[in-house]
Amino acid sequence: MTERVVLAYSGGLDTSVAIPYLAEKMNAEVIAVAVDLGQGGEDMDVIQKRAIDCGAAESVVVDAKEEFAADFCLPALRANALYMDRYPLVSALSRPLIVKHLVSAAQRYNGTIVSHGCTGKGNDQVRFEAGLAALAPDLRVVAPARDFAWTRDKAIEYAESKNLPIETSKKNPFSIDQNLWGRAVETGFLEDIWNGPTEDVYAYTADPAQPRAADEVVITFEAGVPVKLDGRALTPYQIVAEMNARAGAQGVGRIDMVEDRLVGIKSREVYEAPGALALIAAHMELENVTVERDLARFKRGVDQRWSELVYDGLWFSPLKDALESLIDDAQKYVSGDIRMTLHAGKATVTGRRSEESLYDFSLATYDTGDTFDQSLAKGFVQLFSLPAKIAAARDAKRA
Ligand code: ARG
Repeated sequence: MTERVVLAYSGGLDTSVAIPYLAEKMNAEVIAVAVDLGQGGEDMDVIQKRAIDCGAAESVVVDAKEEFAADFCLPALRANALYMDRYPLVSALSRPLIVKHLVSAAQRYNGTIVSHGCTGKGNDQVRFEAGLAALAPDLRVVAPARDFAWTRDKAIEYAESKNLPIETSKKNPFSIDQNLWGRAVETGFLEDIWNGPTEDVYAYTADPAQPRAADEVVITFEAGVPVKLDGRALTPYQIVAEMNARAGAQGVGRIDMVEDRLVGIKSREVYEAPGALALIAAHMELENVTVERDLARFKRGVDQRWSELVYDGLWFSPLKDALESLIDDAQKYVSGDIRMTLHAGKATVTGRRSEESLYDFSLATYDTGDTFDQSLAKGFVQLFSLPAKIAAARDAKRA
């Protein structure tokens, strides 16, 4: 029986060329799997047909938009996930879900080999293969760009020699990955880290410097999950999509950073994540109001570790699951409303309201009605500072 290769297919040049190339090289049939993660752009039907035109034996399109929003973006939101305090894990969240659908396609179509278009220099190869190792360790992996040193120029040449029905002339200098949670842009002139990004790098966000009227939104959360915008109940996908549109129109969510990849390289990355960054800011503030101090302090470290594990491709791993137990437990009371102003590149919280609030006006106020007993503070401060005081006295004696 001919072997079958299940290919993670984007519809772009590289993975389109991979279809006839893998068929030839592996002497196999290719099952192309394109996953809709809310990336927008080309119609999924067009992509499905292109795979067949390039010679795929089967072409599968999976609408995973709601699944991606609910099972990948929302856990990231509950973890306030920002790798290196800035990057909301856009690509890192998508790979484990693509892996899930590759594995089910392999089961359905008797695939024995899985293929992806990643090079050997990035994180995404790790995310694909660590995911596969956890979910389907018996599947073999082949990555043409990495394993057969396949380059873009080679791909163009091959596409032209085979007369493949794909656009090879469009000279996009950037490597772009995008989905509902955001957009990542690398390479081209951005590789000189002194070069500032030009406006044409951006697609999810308008220029924050352009004058326009502000937008105000009220986000309602239930147990750490956003459930309404301005009082309208929406699905997770709809909430993120609407926040992308509204925050993006105000220029919110641009990130330009040098990032530590798992493979040891520092790389320049430009991201746009308008919805993700606005939602994370809102969620963090609701946690500030509803989560007890020590749990909140501890959770910040857990959030960071969760983000690093997911960045590093360990979505399916015991530590991530265990950290999630704590994160989810901490979300019990993260319910209520956050009001935000979206304007001039910023998402600013201006109001919070919650039945579960730990904010006590009568304890916080400096006006009349104060119930905080200030006489207790004096002794508390003395005992609290006692260890440092004793140590300082010892150090003074030695000096
Ligand atoms: N550096 C980011 C990450 O590792 C973005 C990767 C984007 N992938 C791509 N093929 N352009 O998550």
